[in-house]
Amino acid sequence: MRSMSPFVTPVVGHRGAAASAPENTLVSLKTAAEQGARWVEFDVKLTADGTVILLHDDRLERTTDGRGNVSEMTYGEILKADAGRSFSPRFAGERVPTLGQAFALLSQYGLSANIELKPCPGFEAATALAVSQVVKEELADFAGDIVVSSFSEPCLSCFGEAMPGVSLALLFGKTPVDWRARAERVGADAIHCRQQNLTRVQLNGFLAAGYPVRCYTVNDVRTAKRLLGWGVESIFTDHPGKLLGGI
Ligand code: G3P
Ligand code: MG
Repeated sequence: MRSMSPFVTPVVGHRGAAASAPENTLVSLKTAAEQGARWVEFDVKLTADGTVILLHDDRLERTTDGRGNVSEMTYGEILKADAGRSFSPRFAGERVPTLGQAFALLSQYGLSANIELKPCPGFEAATALAVSQVVKEELADFAGDIVVSSFSEPCLSCFGEAMPGVSLALLFGKTPVDWRARAERVGADAIHCRQQNLTRVQLNGFLAAGYPVRCYTVNDVRTAKRLLGWGVESIFTDHPGKLLGGI
């Protein structure tokens, strides 16, 4: 069953404002808000001790000075890692945040969010259930909107079963021919897809079937204008300020 998709603004900050601040951190979400974004996207996954954190990769190395696989580490261990210094010494001391902390910041800045479920392999159901627990608690006094998305169909399905009524978006890198059956199976009400692979014919197919379409990652104004002109609802960008100023 499909939920109602909320209206998502044309410009969504990707991983916060990933070109200006360390991705998936509180300062990145705050920077996106300061650049004028009303919606942000970020990635979430589960630690070994059941904490939902914001992080893109399964491991810490690329974005922090820590080492290890998130699914094998406690949040206390992950907190020792600096998640800002490798982006710029200006952000030294920034930590990997929890989803609960992200919600507090969203409320403070009046942001809405696309929460992308990025389960470590084998943790699809556990991640969906843990995220649904946090979202249930936080939505009680959250004024914004949320959309939950994932490339992982099992994870998205499991989230939808745990929390019916939340808008779900299925993510595609390269759109499979059976995209519609997949979207129906997981209960998605929107499609998020990689802009480089999106043809206009494909887009028209999504739109004709009633799915709003949002594209990642668009960092130049010309491409953003073209896609929005075609009928794409939103673009995810590392540069929300630049795109908001140019479209
Ligand atoms: O949710 C849109 C986009 O973030 C998906 O790709 O790898 O940047 O999480 P990725
Ligand atoms: Mg993402």
